Amino acid sequence: TPAAVAAAPEDPLFGLMKAYREDPSDKKVDLGIGAYRDNNAKPWILPVVKKADDAIHNDPSVNHEYLSIGGLADFTSAAQKLIVGADSPAIREKRICTLQTISGTGAVHLGGLFLSKFHPAQPKPTIYLSNPTWANHNQIFTNVGLTLAKYPYFSAKTKGLDFDGMIAALRAAPAGSIILLHACAHNPTGVDPSQEQWKQIAALMRERRQFPFFDTAYQGFASGDLVRDAWAIRYFVEQGFELCVAQSFAKNFGLYGERTGAFHFVSAPGADASTAIQHIASQLAILQRSEISNPPAYGARIASKVLNDPVLFAEWEEDLRTMSGRIQEMRRGLRERLEKRGTPGTWDHITTQIGMFSFTGLNENQVKILRDKWHVYMTKNGRISMAGLNTHNLDYFAEAVDSVVRE
Ligand code: LMR
Repeated sequence: TPAAVAAAPEDPLFGLMKAYREDPSDKKVDLGIGAYRDNNAKPWILPVVKKADDAIHNDPSVNHEYLSIGGLADFTSAAQKLIVGADSPAIREKRICTLQTISGTGAVHLGGLFLSKFHPAQPKPTIYLSNPTWANHNQIFTNVGLTLAKYPYFSAKTKGLDFDGMIAALRAAPAGSIILLHACAHNPTGVDPSQEQWKQIAALMRERRQFPFFDTAYQGFASGDLVRDAWAIRYFVEQGFELCVAQSFAKNFGLYGERTGAFHFVSAPGADASTAIQHIASQLAILQRSEISNPPAYGARIASKVLNDPVLFAEWEEDLRTMSGRIQEMRRGLRERLEKRGTPGTWDHITTQIGMFSFTGLNENQVKILRDKWHVYMTKNGRISMAGLNTHNLDYFAEAVDSVVRE
């Protein structure tokens, strides 16, 4: 009976967002959820998104009909080119399929569900997640019945990549395992492998016949360059892997509430690759139909308009540089302030880590004091969303961190 259902804990990240909103202090600082803020701590509508939105509103041919099961075709084809490159062998050889999804979360879920049904290691393939990873990965993959395992990723000592630990774990993982990889701007650590390290990861995974599952939510945020941020995925495709990609447009278009994303499956090169991908696409369509029927149109129309128009595309790249540039400035500003104060510890990782987040190294107790005493909101693992910092609160935050570190 429903009475027998135990209460579940509140989602930590959305709980944090609510607590921040309810805090009446005028000093409060929101470094919780990964959503871009401008220098006045306000959500930012990308100018190019506003333009595309206005154009759609004024377009008499736009209606409110269903999209197809796979989504808006102009959007999915552009999303595909954006991530694997317009000249990708996967596109040329017709061995990639793409479905529009409920943002990155929906793409991760669709991929997980597909693999739980069709991965040859039945009844339950194992998926290896980085330690740590985006918290939602754990529950999404558990919900679809995959077995979860971890590989080391973050070194608490260097506050950088534990590359040896990662490689050792991948070597020990059974052949055929699914390996979840963050394509760039790793969430929550802000630490990415170098291109040289990606090559070594790919060589080992090829030897172990492992399946790469890329999650990409920050293309354009890591380096400010869309092509460079897609490097790892394009490299794995060139190496001939069968793989999949969950792609979110929440952050790089600032379309958080519109739930705009895509799921891509690339089959390995070979004579039957394009037939294989047609079969895979047909099965993905069945899964999609049973879960959401067809995806929401609004965000996809906006993204599609920008992705398919060279002038708007260039404006989008400019908007991306505005966001990633401001975040980099905040990184430099925070490090500088902590070093100037002589705050105990080393702070170079604030500027070497990239993307939306920094893994500060602050512990759970310090995070709690920051919240209770300073009205600073961040996740318990010490992650801060760099976009929550601005020229008005940097001094205050540096003072707060300095104080809790010395406590
Ligand atoms: C985050 O990690 O803060 C974002 O990816 C938002 C989310 O959905 O968890």
